[in-house]
Amino acid sequence: MGDKAEDETSFYSNAEGYWRDVPPTVDGMLGGYGSISSIDINGSKAFLNKFLGEGEGKTGCSCALDCGAGIGRITKRLLLPLFSTVDLVDVTQEFLDKAKHYLGTEGRRVENYFCCGLQDFEPMSGRYDIIWIQWVIGHLTDSHLVQFLRRCQKGLRPNGLIVIKDNVSFEGVVPDEVDSSVCRDLEIVRSLVHRAGLQIVHEEQQMNFPQEIYQVHTLALR
Ligand SMILES: C[S@@+](CC[C@H](N)C(=O)[O-])C[C@H]1O[C@@H](n2cnc3c(N)ncnc32)[C@H](O)[C@@H]1O
Repeated sequence: MGDKAEDETSFYSNAEGYWRDVPPTVDGMLGGYGSISSIDINGSKAFLNKFLGEGEGKTGCSCALDCGAGIGRITKRLLLPLFSTVDLVDVTQEFLDKAKHYLGTEGRRVENYFCCGLQDFEPMSGRYDIIWIQWVIGHLTDSHLVQFLRRCQKGLRPNGLIVIKDNVSFEGVVPDEVDSSVCRDLEIVRSLVHRAGLQIVHEEQQMNFPQEIYQVHTLALR
């Protein structure tokens, strides 16, 4: 058994090394499954539209945060069309550099590109209507994920929401040595969300993804 702090350091540094070698493309972001990007985005749009709009209790459309944003695949097709401004945070500088071109002219409405690990990132207090966290929670340890979600809650505007969209395993925690991540089952994800003091407002499974990949679930939290 290795030292815990050492294991944690290599869990993060191995992931950083893995992503540094991945091409800054949609296919790179999706591990070769670039073809499912449209299904993913359309599912996310339908999910988000349940909450956005005018009136009592609705989530506003001023500012969104894309966490583990990569080259901005989600920012480009989901967040910039719905929100006035968007911020991106990712640990890989090369992806954020690429995003500046990939997002095109609409990318002028991105206010901040933060190059930072989510385990160290503190969203600005009260800034965001939506904090979108997709395909990245497996790169955080349980306790870092819980602490990050707590900081996210402080980053929300009134009626704001945190959305986690990610792979879930059939049972337990499945490690991936290649990209240095873990895949948790839905019960574990829910329990970490509750440990962070958040409630699950709505939950859905993304349909129409290929059979051979993990199930993907979307959870809205506040
Ligand atoms: C599977 S890609 C998903 C990108 C984007 N969310 C999407 O769906 O297109 C994972 C992203 O997480 C980033 N990442 C990995 N570990 C991270 C960490 N600890 N903090 C922030 N970003 C991280 C990688 O650089 C990569 O851009």
